[in-house]
Amino acid sequence: MAFKMLSVVGARPNFMKVAAICEAIKEYNGNGKPPLIDHVLVHTGQHYDANMSDTFFNDLELPKPNLFLGVGSGSHSTQTAKVMEGFERVLDEQNPQIVIVVGDVNSTVACALVTKKTWCAGEDGRNFIPKLAHVEAGLRSFDRTMPEEVNRVVTDALSDYLFTTEDSANQNLEREGISPDKIHFVGNVMIDTLLRYRPKAMESTILNDLQLSKQGRIKPYAILTLHRPANVDDAQSFSKMLDSFLDLSRHMPLIFPAHPRTVKQIQEANLGDYFVDHFLEGPEPWDSRVRIRLVPPLGYLDFLHLMSSAKVVLTDSGGIQEETTILGVPCITLRENTERPVTLTHGTNVLVGSDSERITHEFACVLKGMRGTPPPPQLWDGNAAKRIIQILVEKQTVARGIRPSPWAEATLGDDLQHT
Ligand code: UD1
Repeated sequence: MAFKMLSVVGARPNFMKVAAICEAIKEYNGNGKPPLIDHVLVHTGQHYDANMSDTFFNDLELPKPNLFLGVGSGSHSTQTAKVMEGFERVLDEQNPQIVIVVGDVNSTVACALVTKKTWCAGEDGRNFIPKLAHVEAGLRSFDRTMPEEVNRVVTDALSDYLFTTEDSANQNLEREGISPDKIHFVGNVMIDTLLRYRPKAMESTILNDLQLSKQGRIKPYAILTLHRPANVDDAQSFSKMLDSFLDLSRHMPLIFPAHPRTVKQIQEANLGDYFVDHFLEGPEPWDSRVRIRLVPPLGYLDFLHLMSSAKVVLTDSGGIQEETTILGVPCITLRENTERPVTLTHGTNVLVGSDSERITHEFACVLKGMRGTPPPPQLWDGNAAKRIIQILVEKQTVARGIRPSPWAEATLGDDLQHT
């Protein structure tokens, strides 16, 4: 006896999260005890470039998606609507008992909406609405001008099972009136993947490729990532931030793997003078021409290796705040808020917004070695996805009146926490 679970990926940060879930399902099914999970992987195609999508499938050994919707780019509404249209057809065809969505991208909210509005055909002739599981639920920046915040609030309101990464998320959900029995504090699937792939990532040749290591000695360098509309869409504030980064790059090379939306903005706003193309204009990062060094978006293993050895990371990404926390690498977040406050209290993260003085001050603190490395957040231990699968299997077995498999208890012991 099997039940069908369908997972959705759409944009770059989804791939690392679903990789952990695929691995946990593989391990669970490997035990051969019923009920087995019939897992269907759907890629909406929100991200479609080879270096924004395909490389992640290779690096993370993700199975080829069973279904690809090919929605591509568009305005928020167009993109969301296209995913919804495509995903409705998927549900009509697949009839899954459970749909898993991760994170906060447009594909997440689109598939959540469709899941809770679609009646699927049951084997017993009775129709049902699939259960919706949201992985990384409850995070809140309290800034509803961020598209991701809207996506989080809506997805959480619709979900049947809300899997959280930190205590602030549990509290946010309860404050919003979500019943505590729907909330499961399981840890962080993104960190499952990081811990699993860290040894393999250290084999990446990226430091040599970028000339950051000489005769086995790694020279100090910083990483910059920036793609949020609030930072890059307005040419004036973007160029003010670039002035600060240019100052920092006098201390050490600033490696900038640029997101396609950022590259587009650099071209349209004529900001090319701030940068050198790392591969085209002089491979030696310590030459006299001080500039921010542009490189294409990197694959997962290359970026993980690059982050692990960096002196500091400057970023407006959500996931990188979490990854640097576990790697113990100082993170300067170019935002006024974070939906991941545990990275401030138990991690290496500080918030500086786009203010030049705060950026420079925090960078100076890093150079003086004034930043410590606190112990990791609770349950960020590499077992979050296993906990999720254990809970989903239990819920299904209860719903269908079958005996649960003893798999999970054997591997997870007392770690599992329900709020
Ligand atoms: C999306 C997520 C954001 C996440 C980011 C990671 C939403 C609302 N935002 O933002 O939370 O941090 O992914 O990358 O879902 N583009 C390409 N090739 C691609 C993908 C995008 O050229 O493979 C360009 C297109 O011009 C597109 C633009 O990037 O218009 C923005 O892409 P989109 O998926 O809409 O949002 P992101 O900014 O990537």
